[in-house]
Amino acid sequence: MELVIATRNRKKNEEMKRILEGLPVSFYTLDDFPDCPEVIEDADTFKGNAAKKAFAVSGYTKKPAISDDSGLEVYALNGAPGVFSARYAGEGADDVNNLEKLLSEMRDITKGKRGARFVCCIALAFPDGKAAAFEGYVEGSIGRDPKGSNGFGYDPVFYPKGYNKTFAEMTAQEKDSLSHRAMALKAFREYIVRLFRPKPSK
Ligand code: IMP
Repeated sequence: MELVIATRNRKKNEEMKRILEGLPVSFYTLDDFPDCPEVIEDADTFKGNAAKKAFAVSGYTKKPAISDDSGLEVYALNGAPGVFSARYAGEGADDVNNLEKLLSEMRDITKGKRGARFVCCIALAFPDGKAAAFEGYVEGSIGRDPKGSNGFGYDPVFYPKGYNKTFAEMTAQEKDSLSHRAMALKAFREYIVRLFRPKPSK
């Protein structure tokens, strides 16, 4: 099976390929389709955005495509930054701007009330219009200062539940064993394995 990973985020691409290693799949990325039009992520759910991107890329490339939409939901901020995670500090904001804005919004939130979760939705779209979606979550809390230099995005302030280090202080393998993206990709992986499993003869 051929599969286009519909993201231009290099780190996400690497995470996805690492987690899906060993599947009978030849991977393409958007670098293989430099003229593929950008998709505006304007849906109000992770699933809506992921599906929009996967359908657009599958339609353009005529190959199955997976896309993920993910983000951070902080309970004390009523789920913000949510689908706006990548542009929380405004259009064109980078990871540092977004993280600074989050810490500033959470300045007055006390220790026991800093709960949050990362959410990931992976959508798979086929050129014939079929589709499926897979979700993953990781619960945790938001620290007061950035710690660690691995990963990306909000990793330096996110403490997964049960750990006293942030995602950015973990190795890629440690993060992969816990992360929302890994959980969603695991469900996706199981779906692909089922698809290729020989059907029992009657
Ligand atoms: P998108 O899924 O590319 O729209 O971006 C989601 C945004 O959510 C990223 O730019 C990050 O700010 C944040 N995010 C999603 N997953 C992670 C993660 O694993 N670690 C840290 N931040 C993340």
